[in-house]
Amino acid sequence: MTIDQSPAHHAGVRNVYDGFGRVYRSVWGPNIHYGYWEDDADDSSVEVATDRLTDLMISGLAAQPGQRVLDIGCGIGHPARRLVRTAGVHVVGISISHLQVQQANEDAAAAGLGDKATFQFADAMDLPFPDASFDAAWAFESMWHMPDRGRVLAETARVLRPGGRLVVADVVQREPITPDGQVVIDHIKANYGVTTLGTIDEYEKNLAAAGYVDVEIRDITDNVIRTLLLMADAFETVRDKLADLVGGEQADSLIDFVRRFGSIPESGYIYVTAVRA
Ligand SMILES: C[S@@+](CC[C@H](N)C(=O)[O-])C[C@H]1O[C@@H](n2cnc3c(N)ncnc32)[C@H](O)[C@@H]1O
Repeated sequence: MTIDQSPAHHAGVRNVYDGFGRVYRSVWGPNIHYGYWEDDADDSSVEVATDRLTDLMISGLAAQPGQRVLDIGCGIGHPARRLVRTAGVHVVGISISHLQVQQANEDAAAAGLGDKATFQFADAMDLPFPDASFDAAWAFESMWHMPDRGRVLAETARVLRPGGRLVVADVVQREPITPDGQVVIDHIKANYGVTTLGTIDEYEKNLAAAGYVDVEIRDITDNVIRTLLLMADAFETVRDKLADLVGGEQADSLIDFVRRFGSIPESGYIYVTAVRA
């Protein structure tokens, strides 16, 4: 018998991404993140809107050709490949899903980017890289899965060189929390490998404590929140496939709570840029 010695927070994350990752991809595409719409009149497709959020991350990074970028929580590497193509950098992506790492490496090789984008299994809570070994880093919608965001920010500061830029996009909790909102957030925490949702206050404190300067935090909820309603609609189209994986009741509840998470005022999203002092 093999004993799984991985930390507890790995299991929740793997249940989500290894569990229904393929079904997710079939309706949402290879970007495992929210979309960005300019305003209510913007009727861009999910493909365009999700790539647009990646482009916002790329612009925040302001990386130069040849630089080394760490992608914390790389998914299947689609944003990393876009970053490599746009900025001419080398990317090292990490994830705690072996399946994602394998897929990301296969897709990079198939795209002829195997030498520029490499992916490995690693936990952001304990980065297996030397001090000051990256020019820049991003955490693209991965921080809400971290049991201790302060520790990840400190670890990231350690592996960034002085002057290196950090960009974060994260699902956060806006306050105050109502009892209805709490029910939805509790469901998200119980089912999506999330320990707690961050807040802007928490980010300000943790970034300062980790030694970041020039910190800018933008609340971009209004530009991205449409994601959850569209995602719920998309999941509904594959409800039976989801039911095969998790059971009918759980599939219906998953769809219902994604939609509700898109409607409560507590549900927020931030975009952060900072520089390691
Ligand atoms: C919402 S997905 C975002 C994926 C990718 N950044 C994208 O935009 O397509 C979150 C990612 O964070 C990764 N992740 C969660 N916890 C992690 C941890 N402790 N260390 C490294 N990666 C983690 C997951 O495996 C997953 O790849």
